[in-house]
Order: sequence, then C-alpha cells, then structure tokens
Amino acid sequence: MRKPKELERQPLQTDYISSKLGASPFAGNLLWYDTIGSTNAITKSLAANGAPDNTVVVAEQQSQGRGRMGRSWLSEGNVNLLLSVLIRPQVPAEDAFSLTMAFALAVSYAAEAVCDLRVMIKWPNDLYLEGKKLGGILTEFSVSGPFVDYMILGLGLNVNWRPADDVPVLYETTSLLEASGRYVDREWLLIELLKRFDSFYQDGKLSDLNEVYEAWNRRSMLFNNKVEIEMAGERVKGKAIRIDRKGALIVLDDRGVEHRVLNGDVSVINHA
Ligand code: BTN
Repeated sequence: MRKPKELERQPLQTDYISSKLGASPFAGNLLWYDTIGSTNAITKSLAANGAPDNTVVVAEQQSQGRGRMGRSWLSEGNVNLLLSVLIRPQVPAEDAFSLTMAFALAVSYAAEAVCDLRVMIKWPNDLYLEGKKLGGILTEFSVSGPFVDYMILGLGLNVNWRPADDVPVLYETTSLLEASGRYVDREWLLIELLKRFDSFYQDGKLSDLNEVYEAWNRRSMLFNNKVEIEMAGERVKGKAIRIDRKGALIVLDDRGVEHRVLNGDVSVINHA
C-alpha cells in the first residue's frame, strides 16, 4: 500500500539505520546532511583530513551534484539516495575498479532484496532497469605511490522519484518506484546496500575478487550487444564481449580486432 506523500518525503533517520547495521563498520560512521553541495566533494575533504575507512556521507539534496564526464547530477530532495562511501582499500591503483564493481553489485543486490527487481550494470558505472537509467556511480580516488590512498564511491539512485514525461533528458530514466509500482523504503534500501557492500569489502580488501568479477559479469547489460563508444574523440563500434581483470571493456569490431576501452560513454546499437 502506498504511503501518504508527506511520509514518503521523510528524511532518512541515521540513528535507525546505524542501529540496524549491527556490527558493520559503517554503523558508527554515517553522516547525514539535509542539503549540501556534493557528497563526493565533502567526503573528499573528510578523507584528506583523515576520516576512517567505511565513512558514509548521505544527503537529501545536493546543490552541485557531480556526474561522470564532468556532468551534473540532478535530483529532487528527499526521494532518492545520494551518498558517498569513503574506503581506504589496500590495493594497487590498477585494481581500484574492482571496488567500484563490488559497490555496483551491492546496489543491484540491495534493490533485488527490497524491490524484487533485477538491476543491471552498464559498464563502467551505470545502473539500469528495463533499458532505462536508474542511477550511476561516480568513483574518485587518490593514490599514494602505486597504491590507493582513498576511494570515494558516490551513488545517485532514483528511488521514489516520479520521472516526468515532459522534461527533455539526455537518456531515458526510471526509478525503483516507477519500475515496481510501489513506494520504496529508502532506509531499508540503504541498510541492505551497506550490508551487502560489507560482505564484499572487509579489512581493506575484497573478500573474493573472483566472485565479484563473475557476479558483475552476470549482471552486465552490455555483453553480446553491438555497442558504440565515444572516447576522447575516437569512436569504436563492435560487439561488447567481456571486461578484463582491470575493468577495461573488450569490444570486438567487424574486422575481428579487439579494442580495450578504458573509459567512455557506451550506447547499445543492436537496432542500427
Ligand atoms: C553518473 O554520472 O552516472 C554518476 C552520478 C553520481 C551521482 C552521485 S550523487 C551522490 C554523489 N555525489 C556527487 O556529487 N555525485 C555522486
């Protein structure tokens, strides 16, 4: 049953969330803001000032939310999840992508637990449902020599937002409410997300890199699709076949040549 509108817009109660997280390292490290510029930006300054591994910054609204590729991230207040997780993994910088993979999987598993929906991952950091964008992850990190010093996993996820038909957008978007037809408990979703991430990331490491890699591949929406990628002025077209252990997307073009794509915006062009 749908909750009345005013209840749907209740701010997240961090004390309640912490109490449900039990022994999780996130339990005592949850910071909540009503409105701030960007959770990633504030988490970055907390990290530079020594904030611990497993700090989470959540906001109801951002005035300068950042997306990938220098874009903005816009969200209505109190309806979605806008958060950044600070971690200090003990991994070489070249393996950093595996942490983003684990985080994307945790989001997908949490949405499945709470809404019974199978959220797919679109390389590198997007979350999709039924071919529409549900959310995205903006990962920022700092290195110290060959190792990661800290990583910020910033998530914008459309939860109880109602996409309007009349607003022009860059790509089709959806929300968990739209896809499930039901109001979604944001606190439950956040608790599930942090618990699931906990199960992958412990003591500065991934508990099972192979499991993360294989589970991520099973949830990838690109494989075996014909794709087109824009990367720094270059255009690659072909079939997405896998990602490699460093997180690069491997695309096989029509001449049988494999391209290793490190970054960019991918479009699925099966219909072309
Ligand atoms: C994307 O471009 O798809 C990634 C969007 C990431 C947005 C989130 S919202 C919370 C966190 N703080 C930010 O400024 N950005 C990320």
